[in-house]
Amino acid sequence: MIKVCRLGHATLTTPDLDRQVAYYTQVVGLTLIEREAKRVFLATKQGLEALALEQGAPNALSRLAFQVAPGTDLAQLARELSTHGIKAERRSSISPGVAQAIVFEDPKHTTIEIFAEYSFAKEDTSQGGIMPLKLGHVAYRVADVQQIVKFYTDVLGFRVSDWRDDTFAFLRCGPDHHTVNFVVDEVPQLHHIAFEVKDWAEIQRACEWLAKNNIHLVWGPGRHIIGHNIAIYHRNPDKVRVEFFCEMDLMKDEGLGYFDPRPWHQDRPQRPKVWGPDTLRNYWGFGSERIIRGYQTVE
Ligand SMILES: [Fe+2]
Repeated sequence: MIKVCRLGHATLTTPDLDRQVAYYTQVVGLTLIEREAKRVFLATKQGLEALALEQGAPNALSRLAFQVAPGTDLAQLARELSTHGIKAERRSSISPGVAQAIVFEDPKHTTIEIFAEYSFAKEDTSQGGIMPLKLGHVAYRVADVQQIVKFYTDVLGFRVSDWRDDTFAFLRCGPDHHTVNFVVDEVPQLHHIAFEVKDWAEIQRACEWLAKNNIHLVWGPGRHIIGHNIAIYHRNPDKVRVEFFCEMDLMKDEGLGYFDPRPWHQDRPQRPKVWGPDTLRNYWGFGSERIIRGYQTVE
């Protein structure tokens, strides 16, 4: 089995590359590390690649890159994938920091890129924008949540952190409560992307900066119950929902089987579980009046 360690960069398509580059550099505070005619790469100030943007349809996720442990033999991983009936191809230079990867499709037809070796982009010491620490998670609407959870756990080595009834799954590949989540919907599509910031003070600063740029929050600030992260949401110029979060639940030691205790937890200890359909969306905080069916309808 592949054992994914962390989320690398996500590839999104956009009809207006320049507008998205301006948003991600000036508002979000990412650094443009490479630009081609129809493709750009953006990294955090500390050099973690976060996004690739390509000319195309709005609000579409085309690829997701994940890192496995450095030193992992990608050819061996490809052979293991073949035992699941998955055909993987070798690709070179998928990003400025990733020279070698194997690629294949997940059940919702997103291309998955697995790499072992990563070269950090040069640190950008300039200051500007929200400046997140990393791309933290990607949420996707899928018709068959059980099928995609089985794929991410059996093939990619993810663990299930929580379910909200049987319609919304949160999966981890490292200490963070979730790196991917999947919510049931008839039309498969990207739900939101989320960037981690350092702390609550950075969330407050992000609120001020978004307002200064005439970007309105559509939800939050609030502290979720599932994952317990403090979060704010807005829509970017392509209408992609973008979340900034901090203080997400952490399971620093898988062997213990519970999330590091926090004052706001409902259970002691807080273990992965199935939350009931009546679970409140937020521990505190209010969002849009238009939220009528949980996370699915955040406007
Ligand atoms: Fe999220």
